[in-house]
Amino acid sequence: MDVTLDVVVLVSGTGTLLQSLIDAVEAGEVNARVVAVISDSEAAPALARARHHGIAAIAHPHVKGANRAAWDEELADIVAVFEPGLVASAGFMKLLGEGFLARFGGRTINTHPSLLPSFPGMRAARDALAAGVKVTGATVFLVDEGIDTGRILVQAAVEVLEGDDAEVLHERIKIVERQLLVRAVRQWTPGEA
Ligand code: GRF
Repeated sequence: MDVTLDVVVLVSGTGTLLQSLIDAVEAGEVNARVVAVISDSEAAPALARARHHGIAAIAHPHVKGANRAAWDEELADIVAVFEPGLVASAGFMKLLGEGFLARFGGRTINTHPSLLPSFPGMRAARDALAAGVKVTGATVFLVDEGIDTGRILVQAAVEVLEGDDAEVLHERIKIVERQLLVRAVRQWTPGEA
């Protein structure tokens, strides 16, 4: 299978969404390859996942108080080295600024654990529980300058169950989120629907 799409993945945490994409690529389920994983945290376990698969793993930490716009441009410079056709933010907890989006906007996607536009922000599962919804879900969208406001690409519903707490619900959502990320990358590969 000729590889047609180079993907750079941005991470901050455990990297289970990244892992699902790596697994799909290695299983030949998506015509792409993860060429680099970049984290704003040197301690992110997601970087170890990348290294385990022989993928370039780079930490680009933002030092508190340092110039945020400079950090954003430096991040774009690092991503540019890999000349990706797609940037996938998968559990990346930093907002991408206008410098980054000027260069990679329109080909940067993000995953979010709710059915946007409901429950944007950092506590989607907790907010869904607080709102008493019976159905929430996951979204993959194109990143724009807002917070979780970009054009929606794919979504899937997840049922809220009796007794759910935010952590249990979020983990259930992440099962779907992993599938959606692979689906969104597959849709990005040339020749796919
Ligand atoms: C995902 O639910 C993502 O939407 C949110 O953080 C989680 C990342 O999970 N921002 P992981 O690090 O991929 O396990």
